[in-house]
Amino acid sequence: MGTYFTFEELDGNIGRITFDSPGKKVNTFGRPIVEELEKLVGELEKKNLKGLLFKSGKKDQFIAGADLNELAALSYLPKEMLAQLSSHMHGLLTRVSKLPYPTVCLIDGPSMGGGTEFALSMDYRIASTSPKTQIGLPEVKVGIIPGWGGTQRLPRVIGVHPALEMITSGEPVNAAKAVKIGLAFDAVPLDQMEAVGRSLIEYAHQTGEWKKLREKKEQPVGLTQDQAMFMFAIWQGGIFGKTKGQYPAPLAALDAVREGCNVPLQEGLKVEQAKFAEVGGTSIASSLIGVFFMNNRLQSDTGISDPNIKPRELKRVGVLGAGLMGAGIVTSSARTSIPTVMVDVKDDFVQVGLKRAMDVVGGRIKAGKAKPEDMASMLANITTGTSHRYFSECDIVVEAIPEKEELKKDTYKQLLPLMKPDALLVSNTSTISITRLAAATDRPDRFAGLHFFNPVDRMPLVEVIRGEKTSDETVATLVAFAKKIKKTPIVCKDCPGFLVNRILLPYMNEALLLLCEGAEMDKLDKASERFGMPMGPIALQDLVGIDTSLYAGSVVIEAYKDRAAIPPNILQDLVEAGRLGTKTGKGFRQYTGKKGKAEPDPEFNKFLEKNRIGTRQISGEEMTDRLFLGMLVEATLILEEGIVREPGDVDMGLIMGCGFPPFRGGILRWCDTEGAGKLVAKLEKYSSLGKRFHPSETLKRMASSGEKFYPAPKVTV
Ligand code: NAI
Repeated sequence: MGTYFTFEELDGNIGRITFDSPGKKVNTFGRPIVEELEKLVGELEKKNLKGLLFKSGKKDQFIAGADLNELAALSYLPKEMLAQLSSHMHGLLTRVSKLPYPTVCLIDGPSMGGGTEFALSMDYRIASTSPKTQIGLPEVKVGIIPGWGGTQRLPRVIGVHPALEMITSGEPVNAAKAVKIGLAFDAVPLDQMEAVGRSLIEYAHQTGEWKKLREKKEQPVGLTQDQAMFMFAIWQGGIFGKTKGQYPAPLAALDAVREGCNVPLQEGLKVEQAKFAEVGGTSIASSLIGVFFMNNRLQSDTGISDPNIKPRELKRVGVLGAGLMGAGIVTSSARTSIPTVMVDVKDDFVQVGLKRAMDVVGGRIKAGKAKPEDMASMLANITTGTSHRYFSECDIVVEAIPEKEELKKDTYKQLLPLMKPDALLVSNTSTISITRLAAATDRPDRFAGLHFFNPVDRMPLVEVIRGEKTSDETVATLVAFAKKIKKTPIVCKDCPGFLVNRILLPYMNEALLLLCEGAEMDKLDKASERFGMPMGPIALQDLVGIDTSLYAGSVVIEAYKDRAAIPPNILQDLVEAGRLGTKTGKGFRQYTGKKGKAEPDPEFNKFLEKNRIGTRQISGEEMTDRLFLGMLVEATLILEEGIVREPGDVDMGLIMGCGFPPFRGGILRWCDTEGAGKLVAKLEKYSSLGKRFHPSETLKRMASSGEKFYPAPKVTV
């Protein structure tokens, strides 16, 4: 009996290994575990068993993949070491695959990465029917590829096409799908797994099938040259279309399968080693692994530092305003089984809100992501009305009425006497000071910002904004609430623009300045897309609405006058002409053709000419520099002012709130990758344009000391 693995001999000469990492919620493959496994395999090789069963000792948890600390270190290792790591595991799993008796892996709960690769080295896999059972190779999601044989054994077990589907998307399959594609022999309830495993060992002996399966796994998959050429070309095109060439891992995984599947397994494993080493040590892998960790941290963050303060339970939620945002918030809350009250000034408006909620769930049902029962249960959780009295039993009211400070304050005055004295009141405002709004209430400690993003059903981020007097309990309660309704909260202090808009709006304003200085609109958008943004800043102006952008942008300009990029009046002119962007069919571009596709609009030129401040040829490099260096300076000021608690808050806020490219890991991680010294030198080039390009104290310090926002982990593998 080892620390992690227990071997037992069951009756009928059947061996059973139970993997159970002591004191851990999940099993992972870290260095000491692999060392113990090696010893165990040495002993198993000498045993004369009828067959071997392998299971996890944790209910609903098979193997979560690599040890997280080791994963964190991976992207900092040199290529040779990565290749060695992969080669070492190939050797071990090859020995597992050659044990002198049939082997059966019993998978209950998530089997990820190395867990799945281990399971693939055994002869048979049986999955439990638990909804928690998911089998996958998610490596590409963190910028690497399976390196323990997954790219080679999976195509040999289930065929090249389904293997590519799993490996290049990183998406897991459930038990039923695993059986359908041949990844699992059968799916059975947890309590029957072992009995089925034993019968399978009998069956394997009777039919000799296990030997044939082993033989098949060692051989090339046998694609003809034409088949291979055709299939891989299509896959390559598809992956390139999705990743725009910015995420190398899926293409590297494809290459590993392409070059390795049609040769004997051991040669294929060598291909995998090389490809694993190629992508593993890149800055992109480092960024994506960083995003994975930052996301994990947010999932477990309570939002406060005092562990003794616990969140309050919010049993009934009220939402004031059934507009675009209010209806979205009601949907998120009611869909997660929380009784939710939606109130607007007129019943007609409430009905529009209700329809919006139904459309969201209806769309999910159509897409196969929800069931008709989900619609019924959401509707059962929604109460609607036109009076504030409906909030009398609510533990929280989320205000989402129009962005007018006096309207909000007056409404609070009418609303508060009807609310429970200890209930929380929060505002979805995007621009108004939380501390000022709180001062208009009788409960500034139980008042905060809860800033959802549009469209609420698709945007995971929620900013939890602390006013000056917001209590820790309120913050902890809002963080827990946001998680309960399946959002990712980031806590920040009150400041104009809060976290995301404070960084995003200067970028949008800089784009307008560049345009008026002579930059071509399409080139400007392309420069940003090449950097990795999902759309360029001008396209984004049209999408969010020119009126919204004008209003929010001016709030940020007013608040940070000393350094703001102040564009000419082009947004005002467009708003006055009724060109509000996609919602009116015209803005910077026109959207009046088939399917509302963006097209250039010659009429727009007159707005541009009126606001022109130059006709200079502006290089792509200058566009990218100015768009993102300004963002970086503001992001570091946010950290210096203590608006958020960690660099990861800034980076995740940008990734989730405005589509900042995950492969860059956020603006601060981008700075780490490029080097603060290099970026400070670049900033000097633009310093005459204004304070927004003056390096912050943090950047200056990092440039001279080489310090980073995310120091490399000290773990050795
Ligand atoms: P909206 O105009 O779509 O909806 C506002 C709703 O509030 C309307 O249905 C209106 O009838 C109702 N209303 C007005 N006065 C009311 C009162 N006294 N009592 C009850 N209901 C009342 O506005 P939207 O876009 O939903 O914005 C709401 C809030 O969310 C604003 O503070 C806005 O700044 C903020 N926000 C908006 C985002 C967006 O993209 N639209 C994004 C994030 C925040």
